[in-house]
Amino acid sequence: MTQHPSAAAFAQIDGQLAVGGVPVGRLAERIGSTPFFAYDRALITERVALLRATLPAALQLKYAIKANPMPAVVQQLSGLVDALDVASALEMRVALDTPMPASKVSFAGPGKTDAELRQAVAAGVTVELESANEAARLARAGESLGIRPRVAVRVNPDFAVKGSGMRMGGGPQQFGVDAELVPGLLKDLAGTDLEVLGFHVFAGSQNLRADIICEAQRRTVELLLRLAEDAPEAVRYLNLGGGFGIPYTDRDVPLDLAAIGANLDTLISDEIAPRLPDAQVVIELGRYLVGEAGVYVTRVVDRKVSRGKTYLVVDGGMHHQLAASGNFGQVIRRNYPIAVANRVAAEPVEPVTVVGSLCTPLDLLGDNVTLPEASVGDLIVIYQAGAYGLTASPTAFLSHPAPAEVLL
Ligand SMILES: Cc1ncc(COP(=O)(O)O)c(C=O)c1O
Repeated sequence: MTQHPSAAAFAQIDGQLAVGGVPVGRLAERIGSTPFFAYDRALITERVALLRATLPAALQLKYAIKANPMPAVVQQLSGLVDALDVASALEMRVALDTPMPASKVSFAGPGKTDAELRQAVAAGVTVELESANEAARLARAGESLGIRPRVAVRVNPDFAVKGSGMRMGGGPQQFGVDAELVPGLLKDLAGTDLEVLGFHVFAGSQNLRADIICEAQRRTVELLLRLAEDAPEAVRYLNLGGGFGIPYTDRDVPLDLAAIGANLDTLISDEIAPRLPDAQVVIELGRYLVGEAGVYVTRVVDRKVSRGKTYLVVDGGMHHQLAASGNFGQVIRRNYPIAVANRVAAEPVEPVTVVGSLCTPLDLLGDNVTLPEASVGDLIVIYQAGAYGLTASPTAFLSHPAPAEVLL
């Protein structure tokens, strides 16, 4: 059986998948229950090292903690990256519990409430403005607190990025201020007490095409340099977004990071540095930092044959790992890499369908996959579970217990 490259990143000990050097059977005993998510500290560290080695030294790396807000994971990343991005007051609290200074924390996302804006101002984090209305509400929060809010304008670009699993820029959007409206907003901001640090564009996520990401970065820089001409003060912050995808299915080809590094190098040295010498250039990544470092482990509780088709029924499912069921942004459902965790390479193998414990046909974790023969009690692992796993799943659906999360 050929292994998905992400599976190969995890060591095996006595034929078992090991996370952080702990064989999965023993890990299940240590945790005391299944299902669980396990994240590998060393793989996260290696991923940041790869980015540091491949992307320009001048580039700042920001972790979007929405991808995995487990406090231990955020703590670890806070020591490896330059900045953190949050999308809610609770994420902000998790970020501020780390040693990362508040000045290196940004808060992006539509629908920030007045209460959240006040908290952000009080904390001293940078608010990435999504609309003129938000700017006005933030200015009022700053006045009433007697603190000058720090902001960047999130721009909805006048181009769209193709090939993204999710698109957040181009055309009409709830995200950011339409590029053509930004000069007018900047004029208005000059009359407020908001400290305008710079700009942010986040055009899409889960893109595996380096050529498309490079083109988007070129167009983003071109756009932001143009908008910077109307900035009320020197631009100190240029967040070019990210969107770096990871291979989820066996059809996905890993991203050519070197091509992106070379492109960013040219953009920074030839375009940005000469014109905006004070600007820190930022790339904001979520899944690329953590997605491949995590697994979801669930135990077989039933094995049945229905009209010739073999099912393994596990104690977890889409309520914990929605993405693997194909219901989180996939147009055509494809299997995530899956294995029998306690006997990864055992023989013989058989075709099986792995389903979760929810009473809906949507709760499908592995459709007609080839796995070593497994029985009740065996552990099934789903790879690529380090990002948008637990917190992007409908955990309350059918009222099953929540899974544990561990970082090893
Ligand atoms: C503003 C912003 N930043 C960062 C991210 C992280 O995306 P990804 O995890 O695909 O890198 C997202 C994803 O929705 C986003 O909306």
